[in-house]
This record gives sequence, C-alpha cells and structure tokens, in this order.
Amino acid sequence: MVAKISDLSLNDLNEVMIHEHDLFTTPFSKDDYQFEIVSNPFAFYKKIEINNELVAWGGIHILFEDCHLITIAVVKKYQHQGYGKILLKHFIALSKDQNATKMLLEVREKNQIAIHLYESLGFRFNRLRKNYYPDDNGIEMILDWGNQ
Ligand SMILES: CC(C)(COP(=O)(O)OP(=O)(O)OC[C@H]1O[C@@H](n2cnc3c(N)ncnc32)[C@H](O)[C@@H]1OP(=O)(O)O)[C@@H](O)C(=O)NCCC(=O)NCCS
Repeated sequence: MVAKISDLSLNDLNEVMIHEHDLFTTPFSKDDYQFEIVSNPFAFYKKIEINNELVAWGGIHILFEDCHLITIAVVKKYQHQGYGKILLKHFIALSKDQNATKMLLEVREKNQIAIHLYESLGFRFNRLRKNYYPDDNGIEMILDWGNQ
C-alpha cells in the first residue's frame, strides 16, 4: 500500500466533487477547480492516491514570497491516518522550493481538527476575520520560515 503524491488533473474532478460536497459546507464547484488547474498560473494542486484511489487533495497559490493554502481535504474513510499532514508538509516543501517565505490560510473557527493539524506543523494565529465564511468566523493562520 504505497501512497503517491502527484498533480491533481481534470480527470480527477468527478471524484473530487463527490467528496467535496461531503466534506465542505461551502464546496468549490467543478468550474472553480477547472479554472485553478487550467488557467491560474499561480496555482499548484496536488493529490494523494493509494492504488489509484483518491485519498486526499489540496491546492496552494504561490505569489513571489507568499503562499496561500486554498484548500485541503482528506476523503472521510482515510481521515485521522496522517494524510492531511503528509499533504500539507508536501505543500510547505513545494513553497520553500519556489522561494516563498511564508504560508497563510483561513480556517473556520469551529474546525478544531483542521486547526490542530495546522498547529501541529507550526502555524500560529495571525488574526480573526469576522464573518469570513457564510456560517462562521475565519481564523487566519501563518507559518513564517523567512527568518530560518
Ligand atoms: C482537516 C483534515 C484535512 C485533516 O486531515 P487528516 O488526514 O484527518 O489529519 P491527520 O491524520 O494528518 O492529522 C493531523 C493532525 O490533525 C489533528 N487531528 C486529526 N484528527 C483529529 C481529531 N479527530 N481530533 C483532533 N485533532 C485531530 C491532530 O493534531 C493531528 O496531528 P497529530 O497526528 O500530531 O496528533 C481532514 O479532517 C478533512 O479533510 N476535513 C474536512 C475538510 C476540511 O475541514 N479541510 C480544512 C479546511 S480549512
């Protein structure tokens, strides 16, 4: 059972969309993903698969020294097995490779599991973004490795 990380492609989107609706209260549309993969030069979207089965996916934007985590998700039956952390570590390494010096993200205040994941990799609270989501406040978190 070998987990493989590779680029998310248009061929993955039907499967992604099934899980997207399961995992997010305000899901991205297929068009959102298509735009990101085909037309956004700043976007990097990746997936983890085991034996060609989708396990996790996510995306970042890198603009010069700034990286922004756009989305990260692990298919329900694979959650709590370390795949979220593996994918996020991969994005951090990729951002460093592209000469970014920090990563920012927003997370729902209520999403304690995701907040634990981010904190476990060194992200810290940056600011509260009131009503950032239709149903919750956002917490902006930052991982800054510029001085390391
Ligand atoms: C958030 C999410 C990506 C985490 O992925 P995951 O693969 O389940 O997480 P991991 O197994 O890699 O765990 C990483 C860390 O998360 C935390 N965590 C995981 N499961 C947890 C749980 N049930 N309760 C509390 N913390 C938990 C732990 O801090 C863990 O670190 P540790 O192993 O050092 O204890 C996943 O739960 C998910 O897809 N959620 C729905 C989509 C979502 O909310 N995305 C984030 C939007 S901002």
